[in-house]
Amino acid sequence: MNLVNKTKKTFALTTPLYYVNDVPHIGSAYTTIAADVVARFHRLLGHQVLLITGTDEHGQKIQRSAETLGKAPQEFCDEIVPSFVNLWQILDIQYDRFSRTTAPRHEAIVKEFFDRVWKSGDIYQGQQKGWYCVSCEEFKEERDLLEGHRCAIHTNKEVEWRDEQNYFFRLSKYQTKLTEFYQFKPDFIQPESRRNEVLSFVNQGLQDFSISRVNLDWGFPVPVDPKQTLYVWFDALLAYVTALLEPDAEPTLANALETWWPINLHLIGKDILRFHAVYWPAMLLSAGLPLPERVFGHGFLTKDGQKMGKSLGNTLDPIALVQRYGSDAVRYYFLKEIEFGKDGDFNEVRFINVLNADLANDLGNLLNRTLNMVKKYCAQNNVPSIGNEGISDENPLKTIGLRLGEQVKQAYQDLAFSEACKAILSLAQASNKFIDEQAPWSLYKQGQQESVEKVLYAVLESVRLAAYLLSPIIPNISSDIYQQLGFGINFNEQIQSSITAPFATHATWGILSSKQQLGTAQPIFKRIEPPKND
Ligand code: MSP
Repeated sequence: MNLVNKTKKTFALTTPLYYVNDVPHIGSAYTTIAADVVARFHRLLGHQVLLITGTDEHGQKIQRSAETLGKAPQEFCDEIVPSFVNLWQILDIQYDRFSRTTAPRHEAIVKEFFDRVWKSGDIYQGQQKGWYCVSCEEFKEERDLLEGHRCAIHTNKEVEWRDEQNYFFRLSKYQTKLTEFYQFKPDFIQPESRRNEVLSFVNQGLQDFSISRVNLDWGFPVPVDPKQTLYVWFDALLAYVTALLEPDAEPTLANALETWWPINLHLIGKDILRFHAVYWPAMLLSAGLPLPERVFGHGFLTKDGQKMGKSLGNTLDPIALVQRYGSDAVRYYFLKEIEFGKDGDFNEVRFINVLNADLANDLGNLLNRTLNMVKKYCAQNNVPSIGNEGISDENPLKTIGLRLGEQVKQAYQDLAFSEACKAILSLAQASNKFIDEQAPWSLYKQGQQESVEKVLYAVLESVRLAAYLLSPIIPNISSDIYQQLGFGINFNEQIQSSITAPFATHATWGILSSKQQLGTAQPIFKRIEPPKND
C-alpha cells in the first residue's frame, strides 16, 4: 500500500550502497550522516522524505573476502550487514529504506531493466582487455596506475590483468546526450570542481564498458547468457530503484518508479563520481527513464593529515568514536569542521576543542546561565512575558535572528553544512556578548525589571532558534534544549505535528511564549576533558 501524502512535496535521497567486504568505516559514516542531515532538514520543511541507504553485496571483492574466511558469500554478507544497521542506529540515522543488492526482488528489477537496455540495442558482446582493480571493482587506464601496477586509490593493491569475452554497454552512444544534459542541468553535478572533472572526462570521449564477468559466480546471471555474471556496478546502481518499491509491492519497474522517481539527490564520495554522474544517467537514458536531479560528490577524510587505511594502521572506528563522544558530537564535528565537498581531516585534539568551544561553551553555557538568571531575576521562573513585540527591531539578536532562518535554509539546500553551523553559532556568540554587555545582574540591582526581562527573552529565543536550526545536525542536543525551554517531551513530534509549514514558523525569531513552563537547567553538552597521554 502506498502511504505517500500526495499533497506534500516529496524528496528522495540516497547514500551509496556500501560494500560489505568489511565492517563500516568512518567514510561510510560521513556520507550517511550528511544524508541524514539533509533528510531531517527536508522533514523540517514539511516534505515527505525517503532516505535510502543499504549494502552492495555482489562481485569479486565480496566473494574473495568471504572465501578468505571460508564462508559462503551470502552467509558472509548476512553477518556484516548488521554492523551497518547498528552503526546507523547509534548515529541516529533515520533512514526509510535499507536496500540490499542480494534481495530476491532486486533481481526482478535488474532483469526488467536489463531487458529495456537490451531492446534499445545498447548491449553487445566484445573482448575486454585491461587492468582491473578488485577493490574498486573497476577497470583502470594504464596511465592512471602507480608504479608496480598499483591502483591510485588502493595503493597497496596490485591491479589484475583481464582478457575476456564480456557484454558491453554502449556508453559511447550517449556522449552527446550526456553533454547536452550537463549543459541543460548545470546543477546536476556538484560541487563545481567535481562537475568540471566529469565534463573533462566526458570530453575526452566516452568508451563502452563491460557489464558482465566470466569466472565469477557471486552476482546475478546475465539474463541473456546465464554463464556470465552481471557486473557488480550495473546491479548496484539499480538497487536505488529497487529501494523505492513499497514493501508489499510486486517488484516491477512501474511500481518502483511510481512515487519517488526521479531521485532528488545522490550523495556520494568523489571516488565513485563517474559511476553516478556518467554511467548511471547513460544507463537510465538507454532504458528511457528520467534522470536524477542532483549528484553531490564529497571529499575524502584523512586522520592527522594522513590517508586512512588498515595497512597504515590508522583507521578511525566510527563505533568507538560514537561510544566515546556521543552521536551528536561526531555528527557535528564532521559537518562543521569540513567544508562539504572538500577533503577534510580528523584530529582528536581539534575534535575536542571544537566541541568544547561550540557545544559546551557557546551554546550549552549560554542556555545554562540564562535559565539560571531567569530563575533568579524573573518572578514566575518562566519565559519573560515580554514577547517578541516588546523587543525592538534594533535589538542585535533580533536583527541576526530575523534573517538567520532564510540564510541557514539556503546553506542546507546548498549542502553547505559548515556554513550553516557557523551562521547559527554566530547567533549564540552574539548572545553571549549581549549578556556580557547588558549585564542583567546590574540591571536587576538597579531595579530595571523590564530591561532584564527583555535581555533574557532575547537570549532564550536566540537559543531556541539556534537549537531548531541545528536540529538536523545535533538532534539530541536540540531536543534537550527544546525540553529545557518548555517544549514538551518529543521535539520531532512537537515540531512536525499538525503544522503545515513547520520551518516557516519555527525558523522565525520571536515565537517563544511565556505560556510554556521552562524546564530545569541541565548541561546539554558536558565539556570533554582531553585524554591523558599515558
Ligand atoms: N559499493 C560502492 C557504492 C555503490 S552505490 C550504488 C562503494 N562502496 S564503498 O563502501 O566502497 O564506499 C562507500 C562510500 O564511502 C563512497 O562514497 C566513498 O567515497 C566513501 N569513502 C570511502 N573512504 C572514504 C574516506 N576516507 N573519506 C570519505 N569517504 C570515503 O563504493
